[in-house]
Formats: sequence, structure tokens, C-alpha cells
Amino acid sequence: MSATSKGFASALSSGIPTRHARISGVGGYRPKRIVPNAEIVDRINSSDEWIRERSGIIERRWAGPDEGIIEMSAWAAEPALAMAGIEGSDIDAVVMATVSWPYQTPAAAPLLAEHFGSKAAAFDISAACAGYCHGIGLASDMVRTGRADNVLVVGVERLTDFTDKDDRGTAFIFGDGAGAAVVSASDTPGIGPTIWGSDGAQWDVISQRESWIDVHEKDLGWPTIGMAGQTVFRWAVWGMAPVAKRALEAAGISADQLDAFIPHQANVRIIDAMIKQLKLPEDIPVARDIAYTGNTSAASIPLAMERMIRHEEIPRGGLALQIGFGAGLAYAAQVVVIP
Ligand code: UT7
Repeated sequence: MSATSKGFASALSSGIPTRHARISGVGGYRPKRIVPNAEIVDRINSSDEWIRERSGIIERRWAGPDEGIIEMSAWAAEPALAMAGIEGSDIDAVVMATVSWPYQTPAAAPLLAEHFGSKAAAFDISAACAGYCHGIGLASDMVRTGRADNVLVVGVERLTDFTDKDDRGTAFIFGDGAGAAVVSASDTPGIGPTIWGSDGAQWDVISQRESWIDVHEKDLGWPTIGMAGQTVFRWAVWGMAPVAKRALEAAGISADQLDAFIPHQANVRIIDAMIKQLKLPEDIPVARDIAYTGNTSAASIPLAMERMIRHEEIPRGGLALQIGFGAGLAYAAQVVVIP
């Protein structure tokens, strides 16, 4: 080994402090406009009863023109930073999980950093409904290795921009909103190992229907997201409980030690099936934010956690299991200490 590569190896092996990470703050932003089932049923030949029974959704929020990706993210991040007790200048990295930022490039995150007067590292990740948990996993690793002291993780969507309002399979499900978390250095462990993965063989069961190239070359107008609902439903019901169990095992706890279960808000029937498979004790609070927020993809988990904390449904300092899953098909799960 040359002197240079020896120096490199020793810098890498000795220069990385290993410390803990925790979520130090969360926040959420829900668009002002509430859209009840009654407002959308005619266009898709559906009913309030069918939507409630098959998905658990009563109403969702649709973002207006003044509620863009950056604005909603900032309004979600502000209370998260306040809870963490830090300023914009303390942010070392901004990680945004979104599939509805309408620019192929650059990412949205640098603009959010700029909003807080920060020139920190800033990038987006595209892992759909699993994006937020991917972000928390990455942020945890960045903090634990000393790469950052405070990472702002945001899950944000304006899914209505990419939803066909006449599509029976998706028009009633998707909603808009933003959720944010700050991941900070900690004296005690606060984020368990992330269990994650993907299944590219099922790449097309939730996807933007046409590539940007097709849209352009075939003059297709505007792309929307399509979903093979039953296929995704079965994958989530049978595939995600084992992932959640692995996240519990990796964190060294059993289901009865949990203080909250905060799964991605895709369908209340998926949530109920997971509760059974995980054999969660009846008194564990479970996120059911989908009833009033719909499926907000990357934003759903932090929004649900924010609501549960605000309503004092879950104990600060307790343990929550969170799991995101969706297009990819991608998933990520971890146990976290509730901030
Ligand atoms: O966030 C990313 C991950 N996404 C998910 O996890 C979503 C997973 N999928 C789902 O949540 C469910 O598949 C849906 C809620 C999307 C649909 O529920 P489903 O129970 O799978 O409905 P289905 O597609 O099997 O349709 C059942 C029946 C059909 O009628 P028949 O053939 O039984 O007479 C459909 O034609 O319901 C009918 N139907 C509707 N009826 C009223 C389908 N869509 C609608 C509708 N309104 N919007």
C-alpha cells in the first residue's frame, strides 16, 4: 500500500466517530382545501360508502396554487425545526422525498435549503411512499457517522397534479401535504436499523403511465399515475408485515414493547391486516390519518406522527414502528423514538 493510500485508509478508519441519532422534531402541513368523498364520487361513478369501506378515506386535502411543493415543505419544516430547537443555519443537509416535484432537475431540496438561508447539502430521493423512511434511514447514517449534526427530512407531495380525476382506481385515494422531521445527533439511540428493499419485477404496478419522452414525442398531454390496486394491495398485505417484523427484530424489541404503529397511510384495510399479522396488542395507538388526509405518499408517515403527537395519543420518548411502501415496489421500515 502506498503512503497516500495508507493515509486514506487510516483517515477512513479512525476519522469516523460513531454516535447515535434521533428524531428531534416533526411537523406537518395540510392544504387548506378539504375535499370530502361527496365532491369526487360523480366523476368516478362511486359512492361515499364504497370509498369509506374499501379505503377508510372520508376526506382528503387538495393543494391550491399557493401551496406548492416548496411552500408546503417550508410550513411543515418550520414547526419541526422549532421542536428540535434549531435554526435554519444549523441544518447540515436537506433530504426531500417526493415524486411530484414537477422539475426533472434540479432537485427541490436546494430551494428548501435556500428558504431557510442554508447552503447545506440538499438532494431529493425518489422512493415514492417509502421515500420518507428511506430519508430517515439515510439521515440517521449521516448523523451517526458524523457527516451531519442535523438533517432536515421532508416528505411532500402534490399528487393531485399527477392524478387523473376520472380514474376510478386512484382519484379517491391520493391527496396532498407535507411532513417533516429533523434528525439530530443524540447521546442515546433513537433510530433503529432500516430494513429496506425493492421489487423491480413489479415496477409497473404503480407508475407514471408514460415516460416524459413518450409524452413529448406522442403529444400525450400530461402524465398521470396509474395503479393496479389489487396487486399492490396483496403485496402490501402479505409482504409488509414480515418487513415490519424484521425492523422490530433489528431494533431488539418485540411488538408488545411498541408505543405506536405508524404505517404508510395507503388503505385502512392494509393497516388492519398488518396489525393482525404483527399481533400488536389492542391498546397500541395506530395511525389512521388516512381518514382525513387520504394517501399522501411520502408525506403520510410524518403527517400521521405529527397528528398523533399533537393529539397526545402517543408518549414522547416512546417507541414507534414506521413503515413506508409503494411504487418501485420499494419499502423501508425502522423503529424510532417519538420526539
Ligand atoms: O400508496 C402506495 C401503495 N398503494 C396501495 O397500497 C393501494 C393498494 N390498493 C388498494 O388500496 C385497493 O386496491 C383500492 C382501494 C385501490 C381498491 O379496492 P379493492 O378492494 O382492491 O377494489 P377492486 O379494484 O378489487 O374493485 C372491487 C369492486 C369492483 O367491482 P366488481 O367487479 O366487484 O363488481 C370494481 O369495479 O369495486 C369496483 N370499484 C369501484 N366501485 C366504486 C373499483 N373502483 C371503484 C370506485 N368506486 N372508485
